[in-house]
Amino acid sequence: MKNKILARLSDADDFVSGQQLCDEFGVSRTAVWKAVNRLKKEGYIIESVTNRGYRLKAGCDILSESEISRFLNTDIIGKKVVVYDECDSTNSCVARDSQTETEEGLVVVANRQTSGKGRRGRVWESPAGTSVYMSMLLRPKLPPGPAPQITLVTGLAVSDAIDELIRENSSDGKNRQQAAGTDEIRTLIKWPNDIVMGKKKICGILTELDCQIDFINNIVVGIGINVSGTTFPNDIADKAGSILSVAGVSVNRNRLVAAVCNRFEEYYKIFLKTGTIEKLVEKYDDKLINKDCEVRVLDPKGEYNGVAKGITADGRLIVETADGTEFVSSGEVSVRGLYGYV
Ligand code: BTN
Repeated sequence: MKNKILARLSDADDFVSGQQLCDEFGVSRTAVWKAVNRLKKEGYIIESVTNRGYRLKAGCDILSESEISRFLNTDIIGKKVVVYDECDSTNSCVARDSQTETEEGLVVVANRQTSGKGRRGRVWESPAGTSVYMSMLLRPKLPPGPAPQITLVTGLAVSDAIDELIRENSSDGKNRQQAAGTDEIRTLIKWPNDIVMGKKKICGILTELDCQIDFINNIVVGIGINVSGTTFPNDIADKAGSILSVAGVSVNRNRLVAAVCNRFEEYYKIFLKTGTIEKLVEKYDDKLINKDCEVRVLDPKGEYNGVAKGITADGRLIVETADGTEFVSSGEVSVRGLYGYV
């Protein structure tokens, strides 16, 4: 009942009378009142006005399983969604749950992480209320080789999902706030796995693989999206941003989680057909921030400069150098713009 009332109030533009809710859901006034109180306890701001009814305060951005599920349009991803107010790391939660979870598609979301993990053993600062921290459990019937391409598929999905919500939320003018120094309200991808907007990193992806030599047991794909934060840790302050700080647009986190799942499933199904990203290369290249730009490849075997030309059908970055063409695999190698992060 609580979830039904929440959905009804968040869809309404104005007050909904208590009687209307009773009639629509076939429950008593007391049941409605109790459900509203429960929602208030969870943090939703609901106005109750005599003779008018209930109204949910716009912009209430509280993560909830039912709100995420309401916007899902998937068969696999998000069949089960679990939301925590706090957990150590959503990737760790999914890895633990993978022991008992029989099917792929579990999505774990948290409002805050106490031990958020970044790539290469880094910490992913995970304060409450301003970001999306989510992880998905996958079990593609593939050998481990193509697994890193899942990161690229995810990048594409996240980028599209963010763009979709920015478009939705800026077109009605309601949520449009002062854009902070960029006309470019479109996300791009810094190969392999950073989502960038206005030259600021707004999302990172951490893909963890549990496999045997010829068989994938589980893949956990973790996604951290900066939604509305305006301050970032000192060491990344110059390169990090959020959707709000860069595009000046507020997006709802439940909708964002659902949009990521929807887009991801669409691209994941395409990926599974061939076990490679080949059918998505054109889309990916269109979003590649360094395409046709000079980059510096930080290869532990020796750094070099070149021009990034796009990705191969198996997700390697094509870099043309003075000595020929290099095909860069992710892993230990990172790629920078010649004069900074991008
Ligand atoms: C990066 O270093 O760029 C990757 C960051 C990935 C962060 C996300 S937040 C959700 C999931 N849980 C984690 O502990 N990490 C990933």
